Amino acid sequence: MEFLDVLNQRRSIRSFADKEVPTELLETLLKEALESPSSSNTQPYKIAVATGGSCKALGQELVSKYHSANKISKQPLPLKLISAATSKDLPDSDFKPILGKYPPVFQERRVATGMGLYEVLGIERNDRKSRDEQMAKNFEFFNAPVAMFFFIHPGMKHTALVDLGIFMQSLMLAATNKGLGTCAQGALGMWRSPVEKRFEIPKGYKLVCGLALGYPDDHQVNEYRPEKISLDELLITEK
Ligand SMILES: Cc1cc2nc3c(=O)[nH]c(=O)nc-3n(C[C@H](O)[C@H](O)[C@H](O)COP(=O)(O)O)c2cc1C
Repeated sequence: MEFLDVLNQRRSIRSFADKEVPTELLETLLKEALESPSSSNTQPYKIAVATGGSCKALGQELVSKYHSANKISKQPLPLKLISAATSKDLPDSDFKPILGKYPPVFQERRVATGMGLYEVLGIERNDRKSRDEQMAKNFEFFNAPVAMFFFIHPGMKHTALVDLGIFMQSLMLAATNKGLGTCAQGALGMWRSPVEKRFEIPKGYKLVCGLALGYPDDHQVNEYRPEKISLDELLITEK
């Protein structure tokens, strides 16, 4: 594909076809992404790649944890505290989640993006049940046959996050170029234990987020094109 077509065609895919990704193709994409720049070429990332039965099992465990934690969060306060103290299903992420609202301008964009997505899906704003069900799909990777979990070494501080972001974008573009779809997923950073149970995560590495990868299906959700900011909003005015 032409470079600009790849750049413009990449969009987050949230519904995947029941079609496996050949191992050789997966390896090719990862090798292409390894061409990415990184701070002093440190490449401070590691990836756990789940495919086949392992991907399915991991998805089932994450979905079950999501439902359980969601149920607890809706309990009245005293009960919630008791459940939280005894449950093994509360998020055990390596990075503290952003609590409460984002700063105003980002909160507005976040809400607009979420609302746009629900509109495409025909989900009403106050339809909590459908919204929960849609959220749960994150944890089974939107039916993707490949789930990736990205780790960084936090000893590299913020540059490791920059490096990982660049790597992920290279991977997403490489996948788009081959007719595949991806969705970067912060949601997949919420529970570390199910991934740790199945992979030998090197000491010190922290789970940042995940990514679903596979062949897009023709569900309307994949047509969603959230608006990007304008150059005016992007650029800082010179004094
Ligand atoms: C770091 C990161 C985390 C994300 N986490 C999620 C997620 O958990 N679930 C999801 O559906 N989309 C997630 N996304 C996708 C964004 O919502 C999406 O990139 C954004 O709305 C812009 O849409 P586009 O990717 O189609 O251009 C994430 C994207 C990034 C870069």
